[in-house]
Amino acid sequence: MKITSIAHSNIALIKFFGKSDNNLRIPTNNSLSMSLSAAVTMTTVEFSDNYPEDGIQMIGETLSEIEKNRIIRHLDRIRKIANKNLSAKVVTQNSFPKSTGIASSASGFAALTVAGTKAIGLDMSEKELSTLARLASGSACRSIPSGYVEWEKGNSHETSFAHSIYPPGYWDLRDLVVVVEKSPKKISTSAVHEMAKTSPFFVKRLTGMDEKIKCLKNAFDKKNFEMFGEIVEHEAFNMHAVMMTMNPPVIYWTPQTVEIIMGIHNLRAQKIPVYFTLDAGPNVHCICEGKYEKQILSYLKRMKNIQEIIVNHPGEGAYLSEGHLF
Ligand code: PMV
Repeated sequence: MKITSIAHSNIALIKFFGKSDNNLRIPTNNSLSMSLSAAVTMTTVEFSDNYPEDGIQMIGETLSEIEKNRIIRHLDRIRKIANKNLSAKVVTQNSFPKSTGIASSASGFAALTVAGTKAIGLDMSEKELSTLARLASGSACRSIPSGYVEWEKGNSHETSFAHSIYPPGYWDLRDLVVVVEKSPKKISTSAVHEMAKTSPFFVKRLTGMDEKIKCLKNAFDKKNFEMFGEIVEHEAFNMHAVMMTMNPPVIYWTPQTVEIIMGIHNLRAQKIPVYFTLDAGPNVHCICEGKYEKQILSYLKRMKNIQEIIVNHPGEGAYLSEGHLF
């Protein structure tokens, strides 16, 4: 049976960075995220004995052999759970450029998990889908639930999963993703997680983590945007400071990244409440309340060297779609 799923990418407000178990992708800390309404992957999967081998295609982009093999490894996990040895056809499409710090692996592997398990005849709960998606890409477990999400680090496969902490409508926030670079990053996040412990600041980062998460949840409860933004921006600087002090150091920023950050600080100096965060890439996620969207967009659009701005509201979790890609 042909099944299609749509999943949204997510932006980490508190980052997943560093793993306590590499194979199971168990993180060293809990993370918090917002689902991104406009950054979506659509994936159609069909298992059949008519297919001699797995066929993987991404519309509009070329997948490397490494990327194809990562998808096949996830199909293998699904086949193992279902105890079925059928090859699959997978066709997938992103609404945004992959591997540029907009978490295409999160939406990609969440969509593959939901479509793939259903297509092979499995009926999994949200928690089971989240744990399974995590094995392919950590942040993908946060793209299964809806709205604002927490990934509990847990200490085993079954206990490390994400769940919704607030529905999308709880707080009308925006993530305006300023795309300054569309070419894929040179160092994958999988590699970077394994290097995290080489920074002398990694242990320090973890020491303050529980308190930071508590404070962010408090800001959520009070819908106190300034308190929220200060924590989110500090967290982004913190993770990138660890990345820049690893051995060898990794710098995802470009001169344009810094220009946008300075622009955001300039807006704040003019009493416009906007903060930024960054994943493992140069593109800047500008976080604001909905009522300031127009004002901030018109400022950002006047900045130089911007390729695109993707406007995101809090998005849904992964779901099944009637339309198919083949
Ligand atoms: O899920 P991965 O292995 O692509 O790691 C994601 C890491 C960050 O994007 C840097 C942070 C996060 O929590 O999404």
